[in-house]
Amino acid sequence: MSYAKEYQRAFENPTAFWAEQAQHLDWEQPWDAVLDDRRAPFHRWFAGGRINTCHNALDRHVEAGRGDQDALIYDSPLSGSKRRYSYRALRDEVARVAGALKQLGVEKGDRVVIYMPMVPEAAMAMLACARIGAIHSVVFGGFAAPELAKRIDAAQPKLVMSASCGLEPGRLIAYKPLLDQALELSSHEVEHCLILQREQCHADLIAGRDVDWSETVTRAEPAACASLAATDPLYVLYTSGTTGKPKGVVRDNGGHAVAMHYSMRAVYRAAPGEVYWAASDVGWVVGHSYIVYAPLLMGCTTVLYEGKPVGTPDAGAFWRMIDEYRISTLFTAPTAFRAIKKEDPGGELLSGYDLSCLKTLYLAGERSDPDTIEWAQKQLDVPVIDHWWQTELGWPAVSNCLGLQAMPVKPGSAAVPVPGYDMQVLDDDGQTLGTDQIGNLALRLPLPPGTLLTLWDNDDGYQDNYLSRYPGYYLTGDAGYRDGDGYISIMSRIDDIINVAGHRLSTGAMEQVLAAHPAVAECAVIGVTDTLKGQLPLGLVVLKAGVNQAEQDIVAELVANVRQEIGAVAAFKQAAVVPRLPKTRSGKVLRAAMRKIADGENPPVPATIDDPKILDEIRQALGRLGYPHNN
Ligand code: COA
Ligand code: AMP
Repeated sequence: MSYAKEYQRAFENPTAFWAEQAQHLDWEQPWDAVLDDRRAPFHRWFAGGRINTCHNALDRHVEAGRGDQDALIYDSPLSGSKRRYSYRALRDEVARVAGALKQLGVEKGDRVVIYMPMVPEAAMAMLACARIGAIHSVVFGGFAAPELAKRIDAAQPKLVMSASCGLEPGRLIAYKPLLDQALELSSHEVEHCLILQREQCHADLIAGRDVDWSETVTRAEPAACASLAATDPLYVLYTSGTTGKPKGVVRDNGGHAVAMHYSMRAVYRAAPGEVYWAASDVGWVVGHSYIVYAPLLMGCTTVLYEGKPVGTPDAGAFWRMIDEYRISTLFTAPTAFRAIKKEDPGGELLSGYDLSCLKTLYLAGERSDPDTIEWAQKQLDVPVIDHWWQTELGWPAVSNCLGLQAMPVKPGSAAVPVPGYDMQVLDDDGQTLGTDQIGNLALRLPLPPGTLLTLWDNDDGYQDNYLSRYPGYYLTGDAGYRDGDGYISIMSRIDDIINVAGHRLSTGAMEQVLAAHPAVAECAVIGVTDTLKGQLPLGLVVLKAGVNQAEQDIVAELVANVRQEIGAVAAFKQAAVVPRLPKTRSGKVLRAAMRKIADGENPPVPATIDDPKILDEIRQALGRLGYPHNN
């Protein structure tokens, strides 16, 4: 079926379209309404239906004769280990982990926070929660204890699943002390922590509260799949908003499973039995959707990689993986390819590997620069597909849908709206803009299955953040335009969220940390362009009167504080002291103007600015940090 026909079908008759997609899954009970809009804009998909996501991801395939196929391959250059789990083995292991959760008192609807490194047990933890109807909330391992504490307080979990340590190149990160610290910081009390002891590091367990993973799981009775409403929450995933308070994106069981399965076919052109690798982390939405749920729902073999694209051991790591596991589809962030290209621009490390199995490379998480796309195309000789989506949506909204029809690749554009998504480019008054005109990207409601239901415990926040700007639309937070062929190009965020190495971070959260320093009167954090990581945060601080501490000491303390409070993943390493910040007369800090100066642009002096000389002061401070860069 061609893209245009399928798009039209989904547009004209969404209920028939999605009901048809839902037939690929096992339903314990069919739905009463494909789309329930009685509480619009809080739409619900497959209302009245009953479905278990874990059953569909594992048991269904075993029952259909796929039990001996690899479900999950784990490869960890950081620990030197490799493991394979067949669908049968993964089902059995997940059933035991689910049994252990039940034994520890976890019931349907309880939240479970998962703070784990990239080990198979992290995927098992998620699937085990899904099996019994507990709602998982995975927190990325690179976040520091205070960020973990925020998420624990917000999700109010009965239990936390964690491990003794994570591994980063050249260092071991002891997770358990971070978890203990987070639990001390949070006001919420958890009943138990289930801790996986890794051989690289032993964690001290607190009697009564902490429980050893392997002892408990080995003894546990396997748990059966619970009967769940399609509309019951499957997980909450916290993502950065514009403030320091993360937003808990809520996903359901039915709509999510249907969308995951559909995306594998229509967007990724993946078939059961193929090996699909998303080189990301289970702590991000890419990991939720395309390391764990979608490949398993489709009957593919998924790959869980504990390593980096470079340095573990070299920039040929991805090629080794593709060859060794005969990977058909690779999905990663452009920054990973920029890192490989930087180390091995001529692609010499490709030689000796047989990459004939690779069909497609997908890139998302940040803008793909045309250079990187062209380089990857040249090295791999497969289509390189930039596609756009976000944590809130859970699956691609703009893509070249290879499973429907391969359309020409236009580097710089993420291609066309995926069936189910009605993307509009709106001006400030909500009028649809014409071709090539940049505006706010908004999706007409209802959003398709698999997208966010609401924000956890915060329906008002969902409406305020996403739905209030344009009634009848979901505001994506990105700006972009549509060209004459209907291709969408995503240009920038319209808020203070930045993307560092494909990791979504809030400059507002970093500003909170800087502002808490006793010497700082005022501050701003901006995202400056970086050739490797896409963007890097940079802080500009105004000191309180009378402070005479040296700038370099203050900056060192600010850098340490952000690492301590938010985590290494923030990559906050640069800051400068400035005499004042540019503001409008109403007091709004002009972050965009400062970002443009750092990026070497010459922003027009805003008419509303207090004193135009301030921009020269900013230019000087950024100059001391080496901005604008020449590259
Ligand atoms: N636990 C603890 N610390 C972590 C971590 C984790 N799970 N993940 C990253 N960190 C730390 C890193 O060790 C690093 O610390 P450092 O400041 O001491 O060096 C810091 O957080 C920044 O990490 P990262 O952004 O990964 O940068 P890097 O310099 O280590 O590697 C890349 C750069 C480009 C190779 C890397 O970012 C990458 O592979 N990106 C792929 C994209 C990706 O996974 N995106 C996710 C969404 S698709
Ligand atoms: P996350 O929620 O972490 O997936 O981040 C989502 C944000 O990353 C989007 O709102 C965009 O700002 C950005 N993003 C993701 N994919 C792309 C892409 N293909 N092109 C440009 N920006 C992207």
